Amino acid sequence: MLRSTLLAAASRPRLRRWLEAAPGGRAVVARFVAGHDAAAVVRVAEELAADRLRVTIDHLGEDITDPSHAARTVEEYVKLIDSFREASVAGRPDVSIKLSALGQALPADGDAVAYGNAVQVCTAAERAGATVTLDMEDHTTTDSTLAILGRLRVDFPSVGVAVQARLRRTEEDCVRLAETGSRVRLCKGAYAEPPEVAFQQRTEVDQSFRRCMEILFGGPGYPMIASHDPAMIGYAQALAERHGRAAGDHEFQMLYGVRPAEQRRLAAGGHTVRVYLPYGVDSTAYFLRRLAERPANVVFFLRSLTGR
Ligand code: FDA
Repeated sequence: MLRSTLLAAASRPRLRRWLEAAPGGRAVVARFVAGHDAAAVVRVAEELAADRLRVTIDHLGEDITDPSHAARTVEEYVKLIDSFREASVAGRPDVSIKLSALGQALPADGDAVAYGNAVQVCTAAERAGATVTLDMEDHTTTDSTLAILGRLRVDFPSVGVAVQARLRRTEEDCVRLAETGSRVRLCKGAYAEPPEVAFQQRTEVDQSFRRCMEILFGGPGYPMIASHDPAMIGYAQALAERHGRAAGDHEFQMLYGVRPAEQRRLAAGGHTVRVYLPYGVDSTAYFLRRLAERPANVVFFLRSLTGR
């Protein structure tokens, strides 16, 4: 109930504006967001590098309805990626992009606009020795996102994609995606989805996550396990051992501000760990999804509003 209310709020502009104006609201958001601009997020990436943590950087924003906003998002990503050359970040940096921020939902030619914009980001990333991963949004966008991924991978084979264990279709998607050179980020799924397309029980989502991991670890691609759940991380480690995968053949991913001690512990133990690092001013939808994932975050947030 609380989860679906928070997820619904993420798409309501008035509630989003209230949250931004609420006393203490911004301070709590800062726990999950690495700053407002490229310089700030690169500084955080450099700090994480000291603990051998790699990054995937997300410029916050989604569901744009004006092509000029999408063009500005592309400019922001290109500026960010160009700044990687002077930065000392760990490993090969990655950027995460939401196709809805690049125009996917535009009524006319949304897919074509998003593809063209994604090509520009991928070109900049290739120039800088970085990679690109497509975030996965709600289930109405999955087919379009996977189709755009297929087109992008013709010229940029290292482009990766996120898939969501919550969706009933994802096991089959994993079978198709687990091919040589593919980079697949498996997550549980952060959106409220109807029962026709998505598992509703936590145990069903976890079982689906395990089945998807089995497919990805058993294939020739590069699995990226995006979860803070110790049970999923433990199962991934067991699968890596079973399939003889070294630390460089798969990676763990976690969100900035969530279980930071575990992130450092895994990296210190020789695992490849990447932190999802969002930045920008449009942080509310992202923040509401983080609240929805954990009731304790809501308590923390309410306390900060009341100053207690
Ligand atoms: P689960 O929700 O079961 O949490 C396990 C434990 O982790 C909790 O008990 C708690 O201790 C901790 N935890 C989890 N979330 C927390 C939070 N917000 N705050 C504090 N503690 C928390 N989703 C999507 O739909 N599309 C996408 O592209 C992505 N991309 C993505 C990238 C990366 C790197 C990560 C880590 C996650 C995503 N997600 C995502 C989000 C994902 O789908 C999911 O909603 C969250 O990761 C929470 O699920 P867990 O697997 O962590 O397990």
